[in-house]
Amino acid sequence: MMKALVTGSTGQDGSYLTELLLAKGYEVHGLKRRSSSFNTDRLDHLYRDLHDCDARFFLHYADLTDGSSLASLLYDLRPDEIYNLAAQSHVKVSFEVPEYTADVVASGTLRLIEAMRRTGVRCRFYQASSSEMFGSAPPPQSESTPFHPRSPYACAKLFAHNITVNYRESYGLHASSGILFNHESPRRGETFVTRKITRAVAHIKRGIQRKLYLGNLDARRDWGYAPDYARAMWLMLQRDAPDDYVVGTGEAHTVREFVELAFARAGLDWNEFVEIDPRYFRPAEVDYLMADASKARRVLGWEPTVTFQELVRIMVDADLKEADSKIRGGDDALRTAIDSQGRNM
Ligand code: NAP
Ligand code: GDD
Repeated sequence: MMKALVTGSTGQDGSYLTELLLAKGYEVHGLKRRSSSFNTDRLDHLYRDLHDCDARFFLHYADLTDGSSLASLLYDLRPDEIYNLAAQSHVKVSFEVPEYTADVVASGTLRLIEAMRRTGVRCRFYQASSSEMFGSAPPPQSESTPFHPRSPYACAKLFAHNITVNYRESYGLHASSGILFNHESPRRGETFVTRKITRAVAHIKRGIQRKLYLGNLDARRDWGYAPDYARAMWLMLQRDAPDDYVVGTGEAHTVREFVELAFARAGLDWNEFVEIDPRYFRPAEVDYLMADASKARRVLGWEPTVTFQELVRIMVDADLKEADSKIRGGDDALRTAIDSQGRNM
């Protein structure tokens, strides 16, 4: 049985990747970090009692800032594949906690890949690189586009990307890097713009929110559906030779277009509810990301399965359902929903 270790398993992508690997018959070991509240919501539906002899999914405490925890996990588990998805992944937040972001994203990746080298565990390695690394490089962006990072997050991701390439070239590791463009889903963190919008649409529709405050509506992103991107990660590690791949739909839309479609799905006119709050502007913005994913299509046979319009629909419908269950759940859930509006980034 193939064995995979997934860092960032509790995040959006980690949960979809874990589902995919389990469906393919893998034994999956997820890394979770210590938190004062439960952080496994996205995985709970996959978890079986450890005493169940059919259990194939296990969670372990470790942290990308703690090299010894990573080395012991590798040594004890000896996985066939490692997917490094853990990150402080919010671009705006990275301007506020730049050192921490660099520690987790850049040094964390180095700690993990160095643990792989030092323990001598021969496995395949996937690095979650990001289209943010292209920053201000004009679209469409491909594997040969020069990088121009525009945030501490993007700078840290670029280091992680380069060290992955460097370890591949220096030590012959099977280390691949997926340069993924934005991908979303109903499991997307609530402070990323798509989920912030679809959640607000649902709350406004159900009468538990009045306004939605946003920043730059002119930014363009290439938004795809997260499960498609988990499939791309797996495909990369099935190749005989490691390599780097850009993954995206090849279609870009503005934040404004996303807003329009999302409100329209709920039968609302966005102009009545959306206001601009400069707090959400970034010190340096990434204006236009659009993938040229022809290499992934050609070599991996990868194709996106969900259009932009379908993605908006899936997310709005899921958030309407969630709002309804909060309303049914009573006062506490509702109060949490209302309180959290002021905390969105
Ligand atoms: P996400 O939902 O923010 O998940 C990040 C994961 O990293 C969570 O499981 C989080 O744990 C974990 N984590 C954070 N700090 C950690 C630490 N110090 N040690 C161990 N784990 C830590 O991100 P995502 O959207 O799934 O993205 C997955 C990866 O792909 C990230 O590296 C992201 O930067 C990259 N990426 C994402 C996109 C995208 O559009 N989604 C595009 C390109 C690249 P908690 O659950 O406890 O917070
Ligand atoms: N978060 C947020 N909140 N973004 C806003 C808002 C707001 O209120 N208003 C406008 N935006 C704009 C941002 O300025 C940015 O241009 C765009 O919406 C998308 O922002 P996010 O959804 O936060 O995503 P991101 O593109 O910065 O980063 C995501 O994608 C990267 C890949 O390109 C993250 O998932 C990164 O981890 C990932 O690497």
